[in-house]
Order: sequence, then structure tokens, then C-alpha cells
Amino acid sequence: MRLGIAISGVGSNMLALAQACRDGRIPADIALVASDRNDAPGLVRATELGLPTATIARNRDETRDQHDARLRAAFESNGVDCIALAGYMRILSADFVAAYAGRLLNIHPSLLPRHKGLHTHRAALAAHDREHGATVHFVTPDLDGGPAVLQGIVPVLPDDDEQALAARVQRCEHTLYPTVVEWFTRGRLRCDAAGRPILDGELLTVPRVIRFDAEGIRRD
Ligand code: GAR
Repeated sequence: MRLGIAISGVGSNMLALAQACRDGRIPADIALVASDRNDAPGLVRATELGLPTATIARNRDETRDQHDARLRAAFESNGVDCIALAGYMRILSADFVAAYAGRLLNIHPSLLPRHKGLHTHRAALAAHDREHGATVHFVTPDLDGGPAVLQGIVPVLPDDDEQALAARVQRCEHTLYPTVVEWFTRGRLRCDAAGRPILDGELLTVPRVIRFDAEGIRRD
């Protein structure tokens, strides 16, 4: 299978996926790491790993549809079968999402449906949540609303600030995303005709959950 990855920033999730491909956990080749920003640090890291990269920046005079058509063309010309959004900070057009329906995953830094959108760690602290985390889900036109596959739950500690909480969530993301992409690339995870996730033949009506302690160690 040929995996495409879309990033906008640091790319730590992209690196976790690349590592899992390298060590054989994920039976896929990374066919393209695409960024909408040419200054994304993740592009440098991908290049250092020898991965193909492309910057598809949004031009001032083009619409979201036009931009996403170029992004899609880049993935298609590299033979990409499925895409992992890994900190890709743009909303994708309906056409793009439809083209990759059931083959487009995202990781979001909250326990969806709580805290959709941006600044999720700030929102979790403001809400005095005792637990926070991240969700891997299939992407649908409903922003951060596609069916969730796997959640990682971390504790919120009394003296947490946004940065400390974000770091704890990111550590758990680096376990979650390779796990789900492994399920998908090994054929264990798919969407049915209605777009519902099926894992090992079983309809996932609620996401699977992994709990982590404050140090980022799995508790199960
Ligand atoms: C990750 O925490 C990811 O969950 C989040 O961006 C970060 C990217 O970090 N994604 C979103 O907020 C998407 N709405 P990374 O570049 O180090 O992987």
C-alpha cells in the first residue's frame, strides 16, 4: 500500500508513521509527504529520511477547490492509496474528501466530540476536564466529526499548562496513529458502504480506547 501524509508543521506524527513503516509494523511505503507550507519543519525531517515531499501552498488567487485539486493531483501522481492527515491545518474541500472517502484519516488533539477545532488543550483546561487526549478518525465533510476509530486518554494534572498538556497528548498520538494506520494497511480496518468503521469484522459504534499515565506509558 502507498501512504500519503499531509502536514503543516513539525511533523512528529509523520515521523511516528515513517518509523512504523521502516520497522515493518505498517506494511506500506510513504509515497508522498505533502505540506501546504514550504517552511514546515516536517518537510526537512521527511527529506532527511529520504521521503518524497511536495509543497502545495495555497495561492492567493485560487479557491479551496482549486488548491485541493492540486493537492489531490500530487497524491494521485504518486500513486497514493490512502492519506493520513498529520497536523494538516487546512479544511479540505468536499471534492477532496469524497475522492478519498474511507481512505482518509485524521488525528485530532482531543477526545472527540469534545473540543473540535483549534486550541483544544486550552479548551480542555478551561473546562476543567480531568481527562484529555487525542482521536484518530475517518474524515468526512463534517469537520472533526467523522467516525472515530481510536482514542488515547491522558490525565490532566492540577498544575498543567497548555504546553505540558499538549506534550502529554502528543506522546500518546505517536502510539495511536501508527496503530490505526497499521490496522488499515493490514486490511483489519475499513469503512462499510455507509462510511461506518469496521475493525476485525466488527462495527465500531464507539472508538477503541487506550489509556496512558502522566508519563505517556500505556496503562492497559
Ligand atoms: C498534532 O497534535 C495533531 O493532533 C494536531 O496538530 C498536531 C501536529 O503535530 N492536529 C490538529 O490540530 C488538526 N486539527 P505534528 O506536526 O508534530 O504531528
